Amino acid sequence: MYTKISSCGTDGRMESAMTHECVTGRREFLRYAAGSAAWLAASGALLDSFAGEVRAASLKSSEPDLILALTASRSETQLLSGEPTGVWRFSARVLKGDGASVQRSPGGYLGPTLRLKKGQRVRVEFNNQLADPAIVHWHGLHLPEAMDGHPRYAVGPGKPYVYEFEVINRAGSYWYHPHTHGITGRQIYMGLAGMLLVSDEEEQDLRLPQGESDLPIVLQDRTFGRDNQLAYISGEGNVDRAGSGMMGGGGMMGGGMMSGMMGFLGDEIFVNGRRNTVFPVASRAYRLRLLNASNSRIYRLAWGDGTPLTIIATDGGLLERPERRAAVTLAPGERIDLFADFSNKSVGATLAMRSLAFENPMGGMMGGMMQQGKLPSGAAFDVFRIRVDRRERSSTRLPERLAAPPRLNEEETVNFGSPRLFRLTMGMMRWGINGRTFDMDGVADDEIVKLGTTEVWEFANDASAMMAMPHSMHLHGAQFRVLDRTSSGRQTGLRESIVDAGLKDTVLVLPGERVKILAPFSRYAGLFPYHCHMLEHGDAGMMRNYSVRA
Ligand code: C2O
Ligand code: CU
Ligand code: CU
Repeated sequence: MYTKISSCGTDGRMESAMTHECVTGRREFLRYAAGSAAWLAASGALLDSFAGEVRAASLKSSEPDLILALTASRSETQLLSGEPTGVWRFSARVLKGDGASVQRSPGGYLGPTLRLKKGQRVRVEFNNQLADPAIVHWHGLHLPEAMDGHPRYAVGPGKPYVYEFEVINRAGSYWYHPHTHGITGRQIYMGLAGMLLVSDEEEQDLRLPQGESDLPIVLQDRTFGRDNQLAYISGEGNVDRAGSGMMGGGGMMGGGMMSGMMGFLGDEIFVNGRRNTVFPVASRAYRLRLLNASNSRIYRLAWGDGTPLTIIATDGGLLERPERRAAVTLAPGERIDLFADFSNKSVGATLAMRSLAFENPMGGMMGGMMQQGKLPSGAAFDVFRIRVDRRERSSTRLPERLAAPPRLNEEETVNFGSPRLFRLTMGMMRWGINGRTFDMDGVADDEIVKLGTTEVWEFANDASAMMAMPHSMHLHGAQFRVLDRTSSGRQTGLRESIVDAGLKDTVLVLPGERVKILAPFSRYAGLFPYHCHMLEHGDAGMMRNYSVRA
């Protein structure tokens, strides 16, 4: 059986006119189909959003605790000396509730950091002021389908989309970004991303560094072309700027096609939307929340002075206890929280966060191509610097025990001996999953899971050596546990520094590796994407839906 909900927008770019047709199509569909209640609720929310008056059924009776207005629009900012740079950015305002829920990110192009609390009922009134369709995804949050930002809910220019949800996630470092079909890479690249931090009581009781000593740190890479403008891949398979292109261009393939295959790598590192970022700190303990929001770059992070990194949280929140590691691999989409104590440092001291060199994990043709460009994959570079600029006495200590993440037991899975297999594939120069590429509303037989069950999924990156690349696999709608990682590939430096602990929503799968995860599908039925978070791979079709059914 092959389920197809509607046929619109299944491939190519979704144009604004197309969006409208899609909605009409869905209305037709709804009239004739006796869909499940969840379906009707979800699609109903979409239709209502065009009138700007969505009220999710479950929240109809209760007023939200927090109401935010969130806008995506074009803007300009001074990133380099000389001409200002055109960017696309999120801005937010608190319409009701705690004013501290929105914290501006000064100086760069990033959207504000949103601070939510577990249990909070939130309404976000999104307004798309871009020239393209857009929809916002709350990466890592567990939400009903219509609130999750599936690309099929994209709204056209000038259109609103209203989100209403309850925050059920545990405390953690999540993020938000557009999820528009085929152009997510460009939209994030132009500046549309921000952090979303959730707190809860369990975390508050630990008295971890807070306020000014709780720092969101967003890692990205960017390339500039003429007049200080951001350069990305153009639709025609070339690079926006004049010249040879970010991946070396030329050869048999244009830069666009190559980037679609390889992933975009920028020439220089931007942290919190700024170049050469230095964080002025006090001589005290900090919580550093690192997010890799780069389109395709992988980092291998380490302190410049060789101090081990103290990891306190991964994608889905705090670990049971801190882990110390010499270096940490951070793939696109992943987060890691560090505890960093600068209390022994004197005023004026500086410390670099480095990305260490690694051997490119792909051989053959791919490996060769990844070596090109100004800042090739696997190059060593400084990511940001810390500078101690004031003394401060504080008694913040790192607890031995941090939190009790929900237990996910192998025995409770419905398919322990025979994992659901997802082969990461390449066909016709396009990445796919089990040989398939994205189909907006489609889901295959082997992509249907039962609501309330826990499953083992296995990602197999056994591509031939010539076509192998790392992939950063992400699931919407579930925080999972990494069960097992087996590899037949060579050692690369990246592998030794991968942290699989805690709850995860994104996991790096290196060439030659098989990674098993244990994922619970609880609470919400619906259609959710899973995909490679190397944004060019996802946009080129390395994305599929899975369907959770009651
Ligand atoms: Cu952060 Cu489906 O993405
Ligand atoms: Cu996501
Ligand atoms: Cu990929």
